[in-house]
Amino acid sequence: MNIPLVDLKMQYYTIQNEIKLAIDSVLERGRYVLGPETERLEATLSKYTGTTYAIACSSGTDALLLALLAIDLQPGDEVISTPLSFFASSEAVSFLKGKPVFVDIDPETYCMDPAQIEAAITPKTKAILPVHIFGQCAEMDPILEIAKKHNLYVIEDACQAIGATYKNKKSCSMGDLGVISFYPSKNLGGYGDGGMVFTHNEDLFKAARDFRTHGEYPKQFKHKRIGTNSRISEIEASILNVKQKHIDAWNQKRRDLAQNYDRLFSENNLRSHIQIPKTGSNNQHTYHLYLIQTAPKESLQKYLAERGISTGNHFPKPIHHLDCYEGQYAHQSFPIAEGFCEKSVSLPMFPELTFEQQETVVRNIKVFFEKR
Ligand SMILES: Cc1ncc(COP(=O)(O)O)c(C=O)c1O
Repeated sequence: MNIPLVDLKMQYYTIQNEIKLAIDSVLERGRYVLGPETERLEATLSKYTGTTYAIACSSGTDALLLALLAIDLQPGDEVISTPLSFFASSEAVSFLKGKPVFVDIDPETYCMDPAQIEAAITPKTKAILPVHIFGQCAEMDPILEIAKKHNLYVIEDACQAIGATYKNKKSCSMGDLGVISFYPSKNLGGYGDGGMVFTHNEDLFKAARDFRTHGEYPKQFKHKRIGTNSRISEIEASILNVKQKHIDAWNQKRRDLAQNYDRLFSENNLRSHIQIPKTGSNNQHTYHLYLIQTAPKESLQKYLAERGISTGNHFPKPIHHLDCYEGQYAHQSFPIAEGFCEKSVSLPMFPELTFEQQETVVRNIKVFFEKR
């Protein structure tokens, strides 16, 4: 039996008819970018996240860029973030000629450790960019408090954490701005690229909205700012309008599956070989990914692959060790993030995964350790 890391087609089959109708209605309407489907998606998701404004755009990466443009990030400005993320969270800062400044992660949640932020602040610091990694929120209260004290913006990267809560508040609703990604494998994934920016602040909203479309709001060919083209397609928005209705049920399914993995690892006496993920005491996790940590990472992944079980490597290197930053962070180390990258293995996780498939995964992990 082959067990994939993610199976997007299985989910499609559960909503196939609705999706086809939604796409067809866009084709019939004849409006293909930034139309009523986009507006409906923005209204629904700003309500869902508990924010005032939403701007749909062409990817999570662009959502980060629009958020950073909205706060007027200037070359040389510093943004404090985490080395344990998909590259885009730092790339967007560097792309605008800002400087990502890293702090290490919390060993329990794998999100940025708020206790290390103040030491990283300099006169050039403009913002803090926590990443709600793998599906749970960073410890937001101390982050927001530090930001307030030092007059810094907070941009929540919730690309992996739509629907996740911290103290019952949804991701994207706590900072000045929040961003999500609709990349197909995300918890709310489209059938192409897409992203969204959220805020409570009208000025930041207007800025991000204008940058999305060449700075030309409200009139075409009247360019108030130098922006970009980061529009989302109506077909993508219509698909997401169908899928968003399922997000809470899918996130709950992921939590059930995570709990089942936890139970299976305990019952099979594997906890001395592997570390399972933990949920912060203020958090409700959405398990975009389920990662274990184990020393024989590569040999375990190879063993499982030979038996038809796919695993992932999120992330092989922390951001400060990536080639594009060669030398720039050579004098710094973030041992918890570095150790995590050396030992972490991402296990199959998607709402349609079955308990039987999970049992197969864990049984094979058990045999692997018995043979060692
Ligand atoms: C934490 C994080 N930030 C940003 C992004 C970028 O999103 P996108 O792929 O939609 O550009 C991703 C996507 O993988 C992500 O996981």
